[in-house]
Amino acid sequence: MSSRVAVVTGSNKGIGLAIVRDLCKKFPGVVYLTARDVGRGGEAVASLSSEGVTAMFHQLDINDLSSITAAAAYFKDKYGGVDVLVNNAGIAFKVADDAPFAVQADVTLKTNFFATRDMLTHFLPIIKAGGRVVNVSSFVGVRTLNMCSAALQQRFRSDDITEDELVTLMQQFVDKTKTAEHKQAGWPETAYGVSKTGLTTLSMILARRLSKERPNDGILLNACCPGWVRTDMAGPKAPKSPEEGAVTPVYLSLLPAGATDPHGKFVSDKEVQADGLKGCGGLSRMDFCSRLRWFIEWTFPPAGSLSICQTLERQPLIRCSVPLNRQVVLYLYLSVDSAAPVFPWERFNNLAPDLRLATVTSRTSVEREETRRRGTGEEEEEVKRRRGTGEEEEEVKRRRGTGEEEEEVKRRRGTGEEEEEVKRRRGTGEEEEEVKRRRGTGEEEEEVKRRRGTGEEEEEVKRRRGTGEEEEEVKRRRGTGEEEEEVKRRRGTGEEEEEVKRRRGTGEEEGEVKRRRGTGEEEEEVKRRRGTGEEEEEVKRRRGTGEEEEEVKRRRGTGEEEEEQTHINPPHVTSVRAGGDIVDFRERQYQTTRTVAA
Ligand SMILES: NC(=O)c1ccc[n+]([C@@H]2O[C@H](COP(=O)([O-])OP(=O)(O)OC[C@H]3O[C@@H](n4cnc5c(N)ncnc54)[C@H](OP(=O)(O)O)[C@@H]3O)[C@@H](O)[C@H]2O)c1
Repeated sequence: MSSRVAVVTGSNKGIGLAIVRDLCKKFPGVVYLTARDVGRGGEAVASLSSEGVTAMFHQLDINDLSSITAAAAYFKDKYGGVDVLVNNAGIAFKVADDAPFAVQADVTLKTNFFATRDMLTHFLPIIKAGGRVVNVSSFVGVRTLNMCSAALQQRFRSDDITEDELVTLMQQFVDKTKTAEHKQAGWPETAYGVSKTGLTTLSMILARRLSKERPNDGILLNACCPGWVRTDMAGPKAPKSPEEGAVTPVYLSLLPAGATDPHGKFVSDKEVQADGLKGCGGLSRMDFCSRLRWFIEWTFPPAGSLSICQTLERQPLIRCSVPLNRQVVLYLYLSVDSAAPVFPWERFNNLAPDLRLATVTSRTSVEREETRRRGTGEEEEEVKRRRGTGEEEEEVKRRRGTGEEEEEVKRRRGTGEEEEEVKRRRGTGEEEEEVKRRRGTGEEEEEVKRRRGTGEEEEEVKRRRGTGEEEEEVKRRRGTGEEEEEVKRRRGTGEEEEEVKRRRGTGEEEGEVKRRRGTGEEEEEVKRRRGTGEEEEEVKRRRGTGEEEEEVKRRRGTGEEEEEQTHINPPHVTSVRAGGDIVDFRERQYQTTRTVAA
């Protein structure tokens, strides 16, 4: 009767299984892996056992009230109650699922909200003094709430919302989807999101009730988000492993005896998200970045990479660029202090209220000092000294190792500092001189190799293309004759030929050709070259040197020629998948349509 016991629902796989594994190692008592299916549960227990981890098993289907009551009676009888309960079981329809929305709403809320509530109804009375209750919810619930009508938001966020009122609201959502009136009633088009808004709200209601009805029992009840985790639910692209996803639920399960906080909170990455559903003011920079990254990756699964260019300490504006596809880079301008962003926020579900962030430090003093040093020649002298003593080289290595360099580069890009510096260096001739020096010492060559090896080059190219910088640079170089001169130099030294071979070998050339064809760039370039007579001249040159003949032979050999004839007009990408929605970029209008309707 006296053993301490922990129970985790839906723990035969995914995050639940990882929670059980970790609890088995850290919880001073018995840990129960539970599953609705006895076979799948048994297999999971056996697989843990093969790792040397011992978990107990009990059948528990949260959608089946008799299964819940039987399990509650079992734990009450055998252990006198439960010390740790993790409500982890949950479901989500895949984005591509074509089940009608009303069905998705009904089924999703049944498990994630109503069945989890049944669990809480029957297990809270048997949670022992000092117990811990963790409801695995999601940030999606917070985001979803921000998409609800003002009236609904007000109710969910109020401190006096009751369990009955919440249940009525959740049922109202399900009912309204049946007549397709949910939008009119102020609900967004996400069943999973609404279910998690409900679960987070329920957690806060029940925590308040526990404090009131069992003030001396020291029970702590919280909701949490595990992050975006690689499981059957979220797919293989998610950044966190199930073990990483288990960190926060386990942390909340093992809050030390006597702790009074967190209680009734929404927790992520082991940190309370300020006011839970009320917004996330005062986030640390790390929190903010990881949360934003998570949000965007979740909303725009195709976005290959996200760079958060500006950080909080430096400037009251944060600019993120999200390459949605090759033609569209989405810029998010996040206002740190005013919640008045430049971007059409309705597309982003009112993320803005979550971004009321506090500390902003002025850059002015730093800039003033830099200008002074430049004026007096101090800077130049210092640079020479550092180069001479090898200090610079050492510093560069250190910064690369610690990731500082990368972060700085992002910062400078975000604030426009980089661009400004480039202009200054060009104006004073510094750039030209530096280029010569680097070429002479072989530094350039070495740097190029490094950047290619680490993928930095490729990333930079993508960024420049997205922002239009590349195009602008090309025009400038053409205007000043720099391009022509460079081409001659490269031809003379054989650099060009070598580069062409390299690009062919690595497949880079082929990738670039496809891209240019897709975006229409190639076609435009061809027209330009034809207009200026450049093409004709080039053709003559290639014929004279025998290059053309050689190229024709190569293309025939590799089948490229044939491929070209079948891929003249690839379709242009006009929309991307965003969560359950299709974001349509035609005519640059941001429209939303449901996947199933599309
Ligand atoms: N993965 C993420 O990125 C992510 C993000 C935020 C929140 N979450 C939440 O984290 C929790 C775990 O998700 P996961 O990613 O680990 O998903 P998962 O791999 O699909 O696992 C879900 C688990 O829940 C169980 N389950 C479903 N319905 C049940 C029921 N009626 N009774 C008992 N068990 C049931 C499943 O059992 P079966 O094997 O029998 O189906 C399975 O064990 C969910 O609440 C989810 O909403 C996940």
